[in-house]
Amino acid sequence: MPTPVQLQKLKAAAKTAAGRAYAPYSMFRVGAAILTSTGRIYSGCNVENASHGLTNCAERTAIFNAVAAGEKRLRLKCVVVYTPTKTATAPCGACRQVIYEFGPKARVVSCCAGREQIDMSIAALLPGAFGPLDLA
Ligand code: THU
Repeated sequence: MPTPVQLQKLKAAAKTAAGRAYAPYSMFRVGAAILTSTGRIYSGCNVENASHGLTNCAERTAIFNAVAAGEKRLRLKCVVVYTPTKTATAPCGACRQVIYEFGPKARVVSCCAGREQIDMSIAALLPGAFGPLDLA
């Protein structure tokens, strides 16, 4: 569980990341920030492509950013998603699977420009998940 201060930092980082989104096709800007078990924060935004299926969501950009930065045993404590919209956006199915890979006990908080906030565990967002242990 992030502390209130960590949660505030995550929300701020996710909001900043949303401002960096490359979303010329959907115009839907998303930012994400993750808190690792080592207390570090990484962020990412959605990156779209003219070949739409190649789009990478903000959540996965943030997680891949952490791996690329050298996080060896990445364990996600919390994932925060920010959209500059009236309602909050829950992670898509593909992102839920990637969040589960590195944080089967992670908390996922979606916030927005309005008051709405979604606050759920990844286990609740992806029940009966397939994960690394299934390959053991
Ligand atoms: N998107 C995200 O970045 N994260 C989500 O959880 C939902 C969708 C992006 C993908 C695409 O660039 C845009 O939002 C519209 O689907």
